[in-house]
Order: sequence, then structure tokens, then C-alpha cells
Amino acid sequence: MIPPGATLGVLGGGQLGLMFALAARRLGYDVWVFDPDPHAPAAEAAARHFCSPFTAETALAEFCADVAAITVEREQIPLSTLVYCAERRPLRPGPEALRIAQDRRLEKGFFRDLGLATAPFALLERTADLPAAMQIPFPAILKTAQDGYDGKGQVAVGSAADLARAWQELGQRPALLEARVALRQEFSVLLARSGEGLAVFYPIAENRHRQGILDLSIVPCELSEERQEQARRAALRIAEALQYVGVLAVEFFLSADDELLVNEMAPRPHNSGHYTLDACVQSQFDQQVRALTDLPLGDTRLLSPALMLNLLGELWQEPGLDWHAWLCHPQVKPYLYGKSEAWPGRKMGHLNILAESRMAALRTVAELRGSEEVD
Ligand SMILES: Nc1ncnc2c1ncn2[C@@H]1O[C@H](COP(=O)(O)OP(=O)(O)O)[C@@H](O)[C@H]1O
Ligand SMILES: [Mg+2]
Repeated sequence: MIPPGATLGVLGGGQLGLMFALAARRLGYDVWVFDPDPHAPAAEAAARHFCSPFTAETALAEFCADVAAITVEREQIPLSTLVYCAERRPLRPGPEALRIAQDRRLEKGFFRDLGLATAPFALLERTADLPAAMQIPFPAILKTAQDGYDGKGQVAVGSAADLARAWQELGQRPALLEARVALRQEFSVLLARSGEGLAVFYPIAENRHRQGILDLSIVPCELSEERQEQARRAALRIAEALQYVGVLAVEFFLSADDELLVNEMAPRPHNSGHYTLDACVQSQFDQQVRALTDLPLGDTRLLSPALMLNLLGELWQEPGLDWHAWLCHPQVKPYLYGKSEAWPGRKMGHLNILAESRMAALRTVAELRGSEEVD
């Protein structure tokens, strides 16, 4: 076990790194953050900020020299950096999980090889791949293989005839073409797995998106117990196949014809797990610290129905969600990430709403949004 007082390293210093750092500090650890962005939100909460490119070996060597263990807060970190760190310190999760999560082609192939159902997909790497890709059902979505997040790097493809144009739009970068699933529901399974291979699950969150970006997450979800168990089993298969240590989120689709499909995984705490900060005994960030330091994993029990609402950059630019309304509401816990610049779609913060029920939480959202509609 790595005892409190030691220094923990985190690669990436966005809001997830910030919340990791706060959890680690509360447990008595020091945190060093490695992030090339001078304004990285996590830097504020860290004892040291290594503000260098991820590939800067001198800085990496210094970082690795004095941290007891290293974790990540995003998947897009050069593989060479991850391997470098893993050769020197415990890196949790390890490079293999991150290598797969960095590339939608590897990720979808990995799910398929595990026998998990996904949306029909095809790879698009060169012009010669176009005819085969046209065989998947349309409408479809073309997604860049790498560097996509929050719906970025995705283009809708109405029909096979549109495919070549859509690929042009993505600069003919390697991509994954995916049939668009008629969705009944989206949800995510969040788990933590220890160095000894023990896994604990959080209550499943139902996720609602707007324009490809998570808008809100609600717990408890309304899935049948059987469905929930099926999803948890699938997520555990993924974690075990990767010998995963740390916090893992797996996003699922439930199709209109009631099929359970794996969408993607996040090898780190997840936006849809922010509700755990207030609604669970131990948050996903507490769990990330615990898995990293070999402290026993904590209790994931839900203490209250909860809803997490993202605050995106457009709210800073136009009158939208009323600032005062959510700052003053007794059941709303605002989190602001300290980002100085706002742009549309940028995650600036989130609200956790604790309520007596799902419906009550949704009513609060409608109230904050000045909307008549609850749901
Ligand atoms: N094949 C699909 N069918 C229907 N909706 C999809 C599909 N792929 C993505 N989406 C929608 O877009 C959102 C973001 O896509 P996702 O693949 O999860 O990428 P990101 O890495 O940007 O989160 C999903 O949560 C879902 O709402
Ligand atoms: Mg996603």
C-alpha cells in the first residue's frame, strides 16, 4: 500500500485531473500534474505542475523519479509516454487499456472479439475500403479513429452515396463507420477494480446527450435488473480482459428493439460518474486514488437519487441557465472547473442535484432551464 504522505502523479490536468487531485489531497497525498497546458485546471490543486509536452523526456524523468504511482485523466496521451512511465512506476490503468481506448478501431474490434454486441461497423482507412464500408446499414455515423471526444470528429452519413463526401469532410483520416442505432436509452456502467482483481460497481447512470455531448446523467436508472446485470457483466469482461486496475466507465446503448450494445469505454473516471461526488459513500475519484495506492476500494452505495447536469461554454455566452438560480438552489451543488475561457460545447462545470426521486430531480432541471417540460 502507498501510504498518505506519498506523491501521486497524474497525466493530464483537465477537470478530471482536478477532481482526482482534490480527492487525493483529502486523503493526505501530494499530487503532481503533468499537462502541457499552462492553464490546466488541475494545476491549482497540485503541489507541482509539469508544464511540458507529454513527450519531453527530461520532464518525464523528473516526474517519474519522485511519484509513487501514476494515473491518467484522459486517454489521449502518447503511447510512448505511457510506456515510459509504466517502465518506471506503477501506471494504473496500464498502457494496453489506454492503447485500445485511444483508437475506435481497436476498441470496437476488442469488444467484438470479446463477443460483445456493438452497432454494425466498418473500418475506413483507404479509398479501397469504401465499397465494403457501404455495406453497413445506413444512416450511419463516421467517426475519426483517434482524438474524437464530446461528439467531435463525427459526421452524419445519410446514405452510402454520401460516404465519400463525409470522409473528405474528415480529411480522409482513418475512421470508423458505424450504423446509427435507433436509441431507446443510453447508460453507463462505472466500476473500479483493485490490484487484486476485486471489482465494485456504481449504480448505473442513465445518460442523455445533446449534439453528441453529455447533457445530463440520472441515477437510479430505469433499466430492468436483468438488463443492468447483463451490462455489468459485459463491463466486467472488458475490465478482466485488460487486467484493468483503476476506474473504468463503459457506455452502452439500448436500441429501440431492446438490444444491448457496447458503445465505448473510458479508462478513467467519467463525466457520467460525477454524481458519485455527492450521492455515493465514495466518489469515483476516491476510488481512483484507492485503486492507485492499493487502499481497499470504498463503498459505492447510493445515498440519494441524483442528477448531474453539465454546464457547457455556451451558457457563458448567451442567457441560458440562470446563474443565480443554480447558485442559490438549496439542492443544487455546483462545480466549476476554473476554466478562464468558455466556448460552445466546452465543459465548464457541472451541477449535482440531490432529490427525493428522479422525477423531482428532473423537475429541478426544468425549473432551472425555465422550461415547462419535465422529462
Ligand atoms: N452508432 C450510434 N447510433 C446512435 N447514436 C450514436 C452512435 N454513435 C454515437 N452516437 C451518439 O453520439 C454520442 C457520442 O458518441 P460517442 O461514440 O460516444 O463519442 P464520444 O467519444 O464523442 O463520446 C453518443 O453518446 C450517442 O448519443
Ligand atoms: Mg461517448
